Amino acid sequence: MPAAWTAYLGLLSALSAAFAPAVAVKEHDFKKCHQSGFCQRNRAFADHALGTSSWESPYNIAPGSGSFKDGQYQAVILKTINESGETVRLPLTVSFLESGTARVTVDEEKRQKGEIELRHNSTARKERYNEAEQWVIVGGLTLDTSAKVDYEDKTQLNVKYGPSSKFEAAIKFSPFTIDFKRDGSSQIKFNDQGLLNMEHWRPKIELPEPEKKEGESNEEEPKEEPKEEPKEEPKEEPREKPKVEDESTWWDETFGGNTDSKPRGPESVGLDISFVGYEHVYGIPSHTGPLSLKQTRGGDGNYQEPYRLYNADVFEYILDSPMTLYGAIPFMQAHRKDSSVGVFWLNAAETWIDITKGKESRNPLSLGVKSKTSTHTHWISESGLLDVFVLLGPTPKDLTAKYGELTGTTAMPQEFSLGYHQCRWNYVSDEDVKDVDRKMDKFKMPYDVIWLDIEYTDEKQYFTWDKHSFPDPIGMGKQLDSHGRKLVTIIDPHIKNVDNYPVVAELKSKDLAVHNKEGSIFEGWCWPGSSYWIDAFGPAAREWWSTLFKYDAFKGSMENTWIWNDMNEPSVFNGPETTMPKDNLHYGNWEHRDLHNLNGMTFQNATFHALTSRKPGELRRPFVLTRSFFAGSQRVGAMWTGDNQAAWDHLQASIPMVLSQGISGFPFSGADVGGFFGNPEKELLTRWYQAGAFYPFFRGHAHIDSRRREPYLAGEPYSTVIAAALRLRYSLLPAWYTAFRHAHLDGTPIIKPMFYTHPSEDAGFALDDQFFVGTTGLLAKPVTEKDKATVDIWIPDAETYYDYFTYDVLPTAKGKTVALAAPLSKIPLLMRGGHVFARRDRPRRSSALMRWDDYTLVVAVGKEAKVAQGDLYVDDGDSFDFETGQYIHRRFVFDGAAQRLVSVDAVEGRGEVVAEGEWMKKMREVGVDRIVVVGAPASWAGKTTVAVEQAGRTWEARVEFTPAGKGRAAFAVVKKVGARIGADWTVDFA
Ligand code: GLC
Repeated sequence: MPAAWTAYLGLLSALSAAFAPAVAVKEHDFKKCHQSGFCQRNRAFADHALGTSSWESPYNIAPGSGSFKDGQYQAVILKTINESGETVRLPLTVSFLESGTARVTVDEEKRQKGEIELRHNSTARKERYNEAEQWVIVGGLTLDTSAKVDYEDKTQLNVKYGPSSKFEAAIKFSPFTIDFKRDGSSQIKFNDQGLLNMEHWRPKIELPEPEKKEGESNEEEPKEEPKEEPKEEPKEEPREKPKVEDESTWWDETFGGNTDSKPRGPESVGLDISFVGYEHVYGIPSHTGPLSLKQTRGGDGNYQEPYRLYNADVFEYILDSPMTLYGAIPFMQAHRKDSSVGVFWLNAAETWIDITKGKESRNPLSLGVKSKTSTHTHWISESGLLDVFVLLGPTPKDLTAKYGELTGTTAMPQEFSLGYHQCRWNYVSDEDVKDVDRKMDKFKMPYDVIWLDIEYTDEKQYFTWDKHSFPDPIGMGKQLDSHGRKLVTIIDPHIKNVDNYPVVAELKSKDLAVHNKEGSIFEGWCWPGSSYWIDAFGPAAREWWSTLFKYDAFKGSMENTWIWNDMNEPSVFNGPETTMPKDNLHYGNWEHRDLHNLNGMTFQNATFHALTSRKPGELRRPFVLTRSFFAGSQRVGAMWTGDNQAAWDHLQASIPMVLSQGISGFPFSGADVGGFFGNPEKELLTRWYQAGAFYPFFRGHAHIDSRRREPYLAGEPYSTVIAAALRLRYSLLPAWYTAFRHAHLDGTPIIKPMFYTHPSEDAGFALDDQFFVGTTGLLAKPVTEKDKATVDIWIPDAETYYDYFTYDVLPTAKGKTVALAAPLSKIPLLMRGGHVFARRDRPRRSSALMRWDDYTLVVAVGKEAKVAQGDLYVDDGDSFDFETGQYIHRRFVFDGAAQRLVSVDAVEGRGEVVAEGEWMKKMREVGVDRIVVVGAPASWAGKTTVAVEQAGRTWEARVEFTPAGKGRAAFAVVKKVGARIGADWTVDFA
C-alpha cells in the first residue's frame, strides 16, 4: 500500500475500516431538507399554501403582456411580493415543439438584466443560470408552427398542439396555472396547488441585532394565516409553523463547518406538478429505493425526506432511501393503465422533489378526476431558471423517444464494452494483470476488459505509471491485445498539486482549473492529497484535456486503452458534503451552485472527445465509464452505481436502480458485481454474476481491502456456475448489441420493466425485480436472496413462455406468478413466444475473437398464429462507419402457417449500400449455422431435412426434431444451415 495513503485526511482509515458490509452511510454528512435553506423554505411555503384554504398563488400573468407567435407564447408573470401590491417581473415562454413536447421557461427580469448587487464583492454572474440547455439538449427544439390558439379571453389562453392537435395547454392568467391535456382530459398541471415560487432578488437589509424576540412572527407573515389549525386531515408528521419568509436562511449558510457565502441571496425555484389520475411515478435517478417512487412526506412506508438530486460521493450509501447519489436525471414519468406522461426539469442546481399521492386534485373546480388517485410532486431547485419540458405520451415508449430526441440517446458502444469487465482496486502490477488474464483463460472464463484503479499511477498523478509496479504497460497492453482484450485505466478530475508534475503545471499556467469564490485556483483534497480540479466547462480546458490523451503524451497507453472517470461529482474530501463549495466559480464566472449536477457530465464529455483525437486519422468510438452523470450523459458512455456493498440487499437494490437508469434515458448501466465494500460469500458472488450477466454494463469490482475474488478463485461448484453465466452473456452478445442499437435509435431501455413492456397490466406497475432484454422476449428474474431454490416470476400476458434452458412450457398464467426452479446453477430466464433472437454459441475468450463466428437463431414460437419475429443488428463494433450505412440489420420472421423462416433487411428501402467496406464484405459472408425452433409443430415429426433458399439457389439442410416431452415443448434444430447473415433467405420447414 503506498505510503501517501496515510495522509488522506483520515478518510482512508475510515475506508479501511469498511470490511464488513451493512455499515451505513454517515447520514449527518449530507443535508436533510431542513438543513438546506431553500428546501426548508419551499417545504414551509408548501405547508403554508396547502394548509390555508384561501391560499392564492401570488403569480399572475400581467394583463396584456402575452403574445402567441409561431408556436410560442410569451408573457410576463408578475409576482406580488408584499401587501402593498409591489410586483417583480418574471418573463415566461411556453414553447410548443414539433415533437409534441411543450416547454415552459420562467426567468427573472432583474437578474436577467444584471440589475442586482452581489454581496461579498463576488464576481459571479448575476443571471439565473441559462446554459444547462447548451450541455443537455441536442435536438427536438423546432417550434411547432401549427400549434394554434384555440380559445382566448381575458382570463386564459388555450393552445392546441402536437400530433393531430390532440394536446392542449390551458394557460390561466390569475393565478398563473397551466393544465396540459390530452384528448381533452387533464394529464399534468402546473401550479395547481399554488406552490410556484421564484425567489426574486432582494438586497440584504442589515438589521441591528438582535431586534426580534424569540417566537415573534416574521414581518411578512401572510395575511391569510389561519387563526386555528387548518381543518384538513391531520398529517402524520407534526408540522412546524409555516415560515413562509424565513430570512434566517436567505444569506450565508453553514453546514458541517463550511460556510456558503451565497452572494446572490435566496434564488430558488419551486413548482408543484400534478399528474392527474396517475398513481405511479418513476425516474429521477439515482436513488436506492423502488422503481415506482415512494411518497416523501411521511406516513406508513413513506419517506420523510424529498428525493434529492445533488451529485455526491456518498460513502457507504444506504438502501431504500431518497438520499442523493452520484448522478442525477431530473426526468420523471407518471403511469397509469394505458397512459404515460412525463416532465423533464432542466435545472442543474441542487434539487429536491416531494411526492405525495392523494385522492383528488386540490382545485375543487377540476372535474372528473376525483375518484382517482393523483400524484402531486413538488420540485425545488436552489437556483437557475424554471425550465420544464412536458411530454404527454401516451406510451412509455413515446416518453423515452421524446426525451431521447431532446437529450440524445445512448451512444453506440464499443462492442467489447458489452462483454465482461474484470476490475478491482487494484491490480498491483503489470505481472498481476497478465496473470489474471492467463487465469481467466485457463478457467475458460471469457472476459474483454481488465481495469486499473488509481494505484497504477505514480503517486496519483494521472497520465503517469508507477514505474516499479508497472514497468512495461505496453507489454501488458500487447498481451491483452493478443486475444482481443482491452485495458481501462482510471483518470479522475482532481490533479495533484505537486512540483515536477507537468500536468498540474500546465493546468495552473493556462488557468484551466475551477476557481474559488475569490477567483483564485481552488485547492481541495482528494486521493492525491492537495489537488486542483480541471474546469471542463471551459472550451480551452477541454482542448487541453485532449492533448493529454495522445498516445505520445499518455505514454504507456495504446489503441486498446480506454478510460474510467471517477470522483467527478466532484468528490472533494474536505468540501461541504464531500464536494465543492457552491460559491466556487467556473468558466464564464458561473457559480458552482448553478451547474453542480452537470459537472460530472462535462468531465466525461471532455474525456470522450479526447479519445476521439488520440492519433491523427484514428476515429473510434470512445469507451468512458463515469460515476457522476446528468441528463445527456448517455451520449458519451456508461455509468455504474458506485460504491455498493457485498450484501444480498445491495444485489437486490441494483436491479431497480439499473431499470430506473434505463427508463430515464441512460441505459448503459450496471452495479459492481460482487459488491464493492466487503467480501461476498460465494453463493452471493455467484448469484451476483448471474444477475450481472443481465446488466447492460457488466463489471466485477472490489474495494482495495477486500479479498481477491476473481471468478476462478471461487472454487467448485461456484466457478463453474460463474463461468456458465459469463458464457451465457457472451453467447447472447448479438442480442445485447441489437438492444443497444434500438436504444441508440429511439431511446428505449436495454432492460425493460413490466410497466414499460406491458403498460396495460396494472399488476406489473410496481414490479422491479424482473425484466425483458431488448426486444428478444427474454424475461429474466435474477435470484437475489440467499438459499433460494425457486423464484416466483410474474407472467404479464397470455403468450407461451418457455424455460430458456430446458424448453419447458410454463402453464398459461397471465397476471399470475409461476414458481421456477432456481438452484444455484440456474438463472431464471424465460423465452416469450413470438420472438426470434440471435446468439453465437461457440465459447471464446473475448468478444473480439467471436467477430466472424457463425450465428444461431432461436425461434420461440408464439401462441396464436404461431408466428415469431425478431432482429439482429451488427456493425464493426468500433468505428463510426455504421453512421454511413456500414452495418447489417436483419429482420427474421417465422410464419407458423407457412412453416417458413425468412430473413429480410430490417431497414425498409435501405437497399444496397453503395460502397461496401472491408468489414461489410466479410461480414455478409458470415453464416447462420443453426436454427433452433422452440415450440415446433408436432407435424414436423419424422422430418429430416428443410429447404434453404438464398439468392436463387436452394439446398437442403439437416433438421432434428424432438417431440414434446413431459412439460417440455417440441423443438427442432436445423444444423449447418449454410445461409449468410447478410443475405435474404428462406428456410422452408413444410
Ligand atoms: C471510488 C470509486 C471506486 C474506486 C475508488 C478508488 O470509491 O467509486 O470504484 O475503486 O474510488 O478509485
